[in-house]
Amino acid sequence: MRAVVLISGRGSNLQALLAAQRAGELGADIAGVISSRGDAGGLPKAAAAGCQVAVLEASDHTSRADFDAALSRQIDAWQVDLVLLAGFLRIFTDDFVARYQTRMLNIHPSLLPALKGLHTHRRALAEGHSEHGCSVHAVTPELDGGPVILQSRVPVRPDDDEQTLADRVLREEHRIYPHVVRWFADGRLQLHPGAVLLDGQTLTRPLQVRAGDPLPV
Ligand code: GAR
Repeated sequence: MRAVVLISGRGSNLQALLAAQRAGELGADIAGVISSRGDAGGLPKAAAAGCQVAVLEASDHTSRADFDAALSRQIDAWQVDLVLLAGFLRIFTDDFVARYQTRMLNIHPSLLPALKGLHTHRRALAEGHSEHGCSVHAVTPELDGGPVILQSRVPVRPDDDEQTLADRVLREEHRIYPHVVRWFADGRLQLHPGAVLLDGQTLTRPLQVRAGDPLPV
């Protein structure tokens, strides 16, 4: 199975996916990495790992549809089976989502459906949440709105600031994302428009773990 990872920044989830691949635990080869920013910290990490890399900047495209068409061309040129969003800060056209939604996953730093969008750690603290976390989900046209597959629940501590909370959530992101990719690569996870199946059963609610606990097999 061949995967492409889409990034816009630091690329720590990309690194976690690459580490899982190296350890033989991903079940997929990361064939290429596409960044929406030329200065993304993840790009040198991708190149060092021997991945093909491409940069697509919004400023080089006249519209969202034009950008997404270029993105599709690059993804399809690499002939990948799976599209992994890892901090890719772009909103897709419905056409793009429709083209890939049976083979596209995203990681989001909150317990969806809570805290869609940006600055989730800051908002969790400001809103007084006692629990926060991260979610791996299928992608639908609604931003951060697709069916959630696996979540890790991270307690908010009284002395947490945005950084300490973000760090603990990120550690969990790095555990759960490669794990779900493995399910997909092994053919156990199927993404249908509007439904996600694991081992042939429709997931009616996300699987959940608590931070640090063993992941469901
Ligand atoms: C991660 O925390 C990821 O969950 C988040 O961006 C960060 C990227 O970090 N994604 C979203 O907010 C998507 N809605 P990384 O570049 O170090 O993986």
